[in-house]
Amino acid sequence: MLLHIPDILNADELRQARELLATAPWTDGKQSAGAQAAQVKNNEQLPHDCEAARTIRAMILRGLDRSPRFFSAALPKKVFTPRLNRYGGDTNYYGQHIDNAIRALPDGQRVRTDISCTVFLAEPHEYEGGELCISDTYGQQAVKLPAGHLVLYPGTSLHQVRPVTRGHRLACFFWIESMVRSDEQRRLLYELDMNLLQLRQQHGECAQTTALTGTYHNLLRMWAHT
Ligand code: NI
Repeated sequence: MLLHIPDILNADELRQARELLATAPWTDGKQSAGAQAAQVKNNEQLPHDCEAARTIRAMILRGLDRSPRFFSAALPKKVFTPRLNRYGGDTNYYGQHIDNAIRALPDGQRVRTDISCTVFLAEPHEYEGGELCISDTYGQQAVKLPAGHLVLYPGTSLHQVRPVTRGHRLACFFWIESMVRSDEQRRLLYELDMNLLQLRQQHGECAQTTALTGTYHNLLRMWAHT
């Protein structure tokens, strides 16, 4: 499932993030890529422990917590530390690659990358190119979203960031290990949950919405690993 979730960050948070990123200590992005990915990766990233990375990371995690839609779509068990990246100038693309299946947190804990997420931090008009192209079941999708918006897609997808030929593309990216490992099962749960929400908004609670809510939770109980 490829999903677009708007407004993970609000205007104030975005402004603060952009101020921090303007003076942040950008470094070569190759350091965090696997062997195949490093050969096609040409961008910049922030060190995990710099002030800008720490502040924006916390901001994004708060934004995710505020979003019931994100929770429903991702059913997160673990989130791998969000990173910040920049594309522009001589470091302006990330060729076709697949992300490593397993990432290790500083405390040694492992995270399986079921879901990939990108939060765009620059407006589309600020740069040329820089589309996130995701190849999956239905062919290739080119994604370029307004600042503060998130795209979520299966970690199993081949993807690339097209060259940025003007301006700078700023983004935050991270991976999620989901309580429900299968993308297919997660999508079914998400669709059931979202349609139930709309049914309730349109018709209020009734015996059928209560029963279907039970079905949702029983499927989640059957499929989730906590
Ligand atoms: Ni990637």
